[in-house]
Amino acid sequence: MLKTDFLIIGSGIAGLTFAVKTARRFPDKTITILTKANTDETNTKYAQGGIAVVNDLEHDSFQKHIKDTLIAGDGLCNKDIVELVVKEGPDRVNEIIEWGTRFDKDKEGEYLRGKEGGHSEFRILHHKDITGFEMERALIEEVKKYPNIHIHNHWFVIDIITQHHLGFLVTKSTPDINCFGVYALNLQTGEIEKILSRITLMASGGAGQVYRTTTNPRIATGDGIAMVYRAKGRIENMEFIQFHPTALFEAGISPSFLITEAVRGDGGVLRNKDGEAFMERYDSRKDLAPRDIVARAIDNEMKRTGTEHVYLDCRHMDESKFKAHFPNIHKKCMDIGIDVMQQMIPVAPAAHYCCGGIKVNAIGHSSIRNLYACGECSSTGLHGANRLASNSLLEALVFAHRCAEDAAENIGRIDFNENIPDWNASGTTDPKEMILITQSLKELQLIMSDYVGIVRNDMRLQRAMRRIDLIHTETEDLYKSTNLSPQLLELRNLITIGYLIIKSAEFRKESRGLHFNTDYPEKSEMLQNIVL
Ligand code: FAD
Ligand code: SIN
Repeated sequence: MLKTDFLIIGSGIAGLTFAVKTARRFPDKTITILTKANTDETNTKYAQGGIAVVNDLEHDSFQKHIKDTLIAGDGLCNKDIVELVVKEGPDRVNEIIEWGTRFDKDKEGEYLRGKEGGHSEFRILHHKDITGFEMERALIEEVKKYPNIHIHNHWFVIDIITQHHLGFLVTKSTPDINCFGVYALNLQTGEIEKILSRITLMASGGAGQVYRTTTNPRIATGDGIAMVYRAKGRIENMEFIQFHPTALFEAGISPSFLITEAVRGDGGVLRNKDGEAFMERYDSRKDLAPRDIVARAIDNEMKRTGTEHVYLDCRHMDESKFKAHFPNIHKKCMDIGIDVMQQMIPVAPAAHYCCGGIKVNAIGHSSIRNLYACGECSSTGLHGANRLASNSLLEALVFAHRCAEDAAENIGRIDFNENIPDWNASGTTDPKEMILITQSLKELQLIMSDYVGIVRNDMRLQRAMRRIDLIHTETEDLYKSTNLSPQLLELRNLITIGYLIIKSAEFRKESRGLHFNTDYPEKSEMLQNIVL
């Protein structure tokens, strides 16, 4: 059994930022970070394009960034949240610069700013095309300075502990569900540990792995969202799954390598198999329209021309500038035999970002007492129906700060609950066929990609739900009867994520932002967040 004042699930930008801020403020308190993989194996590490921030008031303004975010969000953003994220953003970005993050500058020492879809100005700070890698590196270095931060890698959090584990009936309408800590599977010992905490932060990232084709690494299985749903917390707007328009098309390879939108910001042009620059037929902003529009246009072109991908044409771009800004992409393409100065890059949309998640308020508090959430697993109201590119790293920084400030106010009032029982694993045995778990996962990913992708309709959603229901029943049987493994836990969580996406999509009787249903192609007059 472990006891810690602050418990953080996840070591991406959200979890690490909260940890640093809290450790500085409370050198006498313990801060424990649990991660199910190595510390740096996160969505954060793979972020390419950069972080959107207004830190050049001569050429840009808060109002423009706010407007761009609201337009991309297609009517569903919470305006107050958009305003606070955009306005608090520069201070938070300055902090991580102080902690050692290096963003690219020109010879005069001025920051180089990129542009991506939906942005009216060049405002994206970046570190070449590996911004996330640089941010994660700097944050890990900063975390190491605090002896009161303890990182436990390869600890798989199974569930948050609430009154349910004390034998009480907990439902969605229970007024004061309380988080007392978590149960976690220590992957090194195989033991299931009880971890008691005063305050818990869910920073467990996204859920791209619920689809067959995704830019997200293996860790992105929506665990935190599924845990909070099981604990009867509120989950919001899960139908808004963002597909990135330009993942490198390599048949059978998962996760997909991303070709950052910043390439289009620097002049890259999408073309179909006939060489036509088709985006002008879809939107006046062409290749730099918001992501939902570009992804749908590509999807339509692929269906129309019967191809598995379109192309990103960079042949006209300046070679030395391309190599300076996108060295990693240049190398990756070369490695698979594509010289981007001579050949077009095959690209197709891939599941990329979960706009919905654990519903939180303006200080990052979830509907469960003493449980905060920030980063990709949370739904703050910033993204609405479609996230503006490069706004997520910014959101994670701003909300990690807000969560840390509020948690600091509350920590003194919260005691440990010493009555929590140990995990009961009696009656379970080793699974006879691990392959069944792998097969169920593949089935789930196929169902989600085939029926709940970029373009949906009611019949497809119903079909998906019926099929998932069967996998759910079989997996619950396994869960109750066998010893737990990360594969089984991830499958179980991904089934919950699939269910939440389909159920929310069924409730939304309109097409808005990332959710397009051909049975309801128009926007409804009523603005509604779907909360499950
Ligand atoms: P993550 O960084 O994903 O961290 C999640 C952590 O939770 C991990 O440590 C993981 O081990 C842990 N975890 C999860 N489940 C469990 C469990 N059950 N038990 C224990 N630990 C668990 N956004 C931008 O703003 N700009 C960009 O340029 C950009 N580019 C991107 C490129 C790619 C390829 C991808 C995939 C995403 C990109 N994004 C970008 C999105 C952005 O990177 C993520 O939204 C953000 O980094 C999420 O950070 P996080 O801290 O919330 O989660
Ligand atoms: C990209 O670099 O294109 C990804 C940016 C993002 O997801 O915000």
